[in-house]
Amino acid sequence: MSTAISPTAYNYKVVRQFAIMTVVWGILGMGLGVFIASQLVWPELNFGLPWTTFGRLRPLHTNLVIFAFGGCALFATSYYVVQRTCQTRLISDSLAAFTFWGWQAVILGAIVTLPLGYTTTKEYAELEWPIAILLAIVWVTYAVVFFGTIVKRKTKHIYVGNWFYGAFILVTAMLHIVNHASLPVSLFKSYSAYAGATDAMIQWWYGHNAVGFFLTTGFLGMMYYFVPKQAERPIYSYRLSIVHFWALITLYIWAGPHHLHYTALPDWAQSLGMAMSIILLAPSWGGMINGMMTLSGAWHKLRTDPILRFLVVSLAFYGMSTFEGPMMAIKTVNSLSHYTDWTIGHVHAGALGWVAMISIGAIYHMIPRLFGRVQMHSVGLINTHFWLATIGTVLYIASMWVNGITQGLMWRAINDDGTLTYSFVEALQASHPGYIVRALGGAFFATGMLFMAYNVWRTVRASDPAEAEAAAKIAVVGAH
Ligand code: HEM
Ligand code: HEM
Repeated sequence: MSTAISPTAYNYKVVRQFAIMTVVWGILGMGLGVFIASQLVWPELNFGLPWTTFGRLRPLHTNLVIFAFGGCALFATSYYVVQRTCQTRLISDSLAAFTFWGWQAVILGAIVTLPLGYTTTKEYAELEWPIAILLAIVWVTYAVVFFGTIVKRKTKHIYVGNWFYGAFILVTAMLHIVNHASLPVSLFKSYSAYAGATDAMIQWWYGHNAVGFFLTTGFLGMMYYFVPKQAERPIYSYRLSIVHFWALITLYIWAGPHHLHYTALPDWAQSLGMAMSIILLAPSWGGMINGMMTLSGAWHKLRTDPILRFLVVSLAFYGMSTFEGPMMAIKTVNSLSHYTDWTIGHVHAGALGWVAMISIGAIYHMIPRLFGRVQMHSVGLINTHFWLATIGTVLYIASMWVNGITQGLMWRAINDDGTLTYSFVEALQASHPGYIVRALGGAFFATGMLFMAYNVWRTVRASDPAEAEAAAKIAVVGAH
């Protein structure tokens, strides 16, 4: 859509681009999730080809859902929120455009290299050095655009949502750069700069804070803007949001060792990680309560507004996964849960229930506003999507709990003479029904995304460029 750029208008073009790509990558990443979940039910789906095996497609799934789907949602919403809460246009259109095209290039790099087997082998940091360098450049540019816009803001204070987005951007840059320090030996192979237990600790300092800052802090920024907006209520407690922010970012960074219980990592470091993880429950629930209580006096809206339902249920799953996480960080619990499907269930309680649901709610909130429409093409379809997503998530998590506890108990069962009661294959056979239910739950969730794509397409098709331009005009009066 070619409209003259007015300096008094927000840059919605880049927000629209990222918002649309959130839906596209969501479908591909989750579709791939359903495919690899099906491979665990029917191994024939590996097709006997190296590039379609579970081992290569699994990291592609995680990269697509976390960085492509989640990343685009974070870019879209942070650019939208920072402009509206600072009442100013992004500091640079060309740098913002670079972050869009650069980010898509990183994703395409992942789609090509991961199935070919090029990988650093570090989880969530698999991309080899040329792509990792591009990612670092895009990320630093993102920081310049975001913080530059904050600097030129027209408002006096910085809305708390931006604090969360800001911390997510800064810490992600730090984690990515430190964990990727490596020695390239060829165009697509590099070796980590760290060795042994130090390498493992740096990797899980990265890995856990990828969860803490990419999959949590950024999405909390989203929560602090979109929940009050959709509920049409001010945030429950601004004071709590400040305490929440500082407590969360100070504690998260220490919890990484809970990924390395009973390993060569020094025992004191494991215990420290465990203690910090338990304390982390407090700020996590503080944030969840702040979001939930924002609905005080507006609960009735849940009856008619499926977008608000997405946002509120995402908070419920956030509360659930941040209760489960600290429990799993306790060493005795972890000795049962580690290596089992329980971890996979926990991951998706956070990933589907929290990250995907809040993103979907935020995108539904933004799309009509970005394209000059009053509301989405069909509210009924949003409602259908909501139920598919909720039922899908519950099926996924419940089946993985059953599988995880079954596996953990079967692996540790011993006979009187000290031999193992069950072979590994017996535990695998016991897991088979759970894998079917998980694939079904995933298919529910991914089908919901197809409804979303149709609904977004119909809304965009009916969009009026003049109205969209008018909607992008910076509101001079009133908040955000
Ligand atoms: C339709 C939805 C989805 C399905 C069916 C699905 C399925 C799967 C499967 C089968 C695995 C491999 C599990 C294993 O190794 O045993 C996996 C791993 C993973 N998925 Fe998903 N997924 C979905 C959506 C998502 C989303 C939206 C996210 C993130 C926002 C996500 C993040 C992850 C992560 C982080 C892992 C690795 C977990 C670990 O290593 O512990 N997934 N997923
Ligand atoms: C207070 C909050 C949380 C704590 C203390 C926590 C703790 C844990 C623990 C103990 C594990 C298992 C480690 C292992 O046995 O290997 C784990 C795994 C994981 N958690 Fe959480 N969790 C929290 C919240 C979340 C949230 C909200 C998400 C997602 C949005 C999430 C995503 C993950 C992922 C992706 C893994 C798997 C990592 C891997 O092995 O690949 N966690 N978490």
